[in-house]
Amino acid sequence: GAPVQADVSKLEPGQRMTVEWRGRPVWIINRTPEMIERTEGFDPSRLADPNSEEPQQPNYVEGPLRSIRPEIGVLIGICTHLGCSPLFRPEPNAEGVGTDDWPGGFFCPCHGSRFDLAGRVFRNVPAPTNLEVPPYRFESDSVIVVG
Ligand code: FES
Repeated sequence: GAPVQADVSKLEPGQRMTVEWRGRPVWIINRTPEMIERTEGFDPSRLADPNSEEPQQPNYVEGPLRSIRPEIGVLIGICTHLGCSPLFRPEPNAEGVGTDDWPGGFFCPCHGSRFDLAGRVFRNVPAPTNLEVPPYRFESDSVIVVG
């Protein structure tokens, strides 16, 4: 599959857009400073792989935010359990995500897997690994190339 371009210049802080790459949805999230702080400060003991030791991302992507730029997250929007599409629930303590102290993130309605705003999977959910980060780069300040 060919690489795809995404223009993030109109992606408001706190919002998510989706592009398709190799038949799969790729989410691009513009994290606010507050969302970044929440994600970086989240208790790592509640996450199954907080340091992303399973290779679910390119090696140039590191740290808790799993991204090149802290504000822009790029994730394959497919649950690593059985492939459902998790719901975007960015607000803290959202209802219906099956946990108190929700830091904001993604909730899979199929079997209840939870991921933070960096796609890191919670402990004790069916999904075995973090969401996948596809290969990507910034072609300019506002254009991302995925693939
Ligand atoms: Fe997402 Fe099972 S497919 S929890």
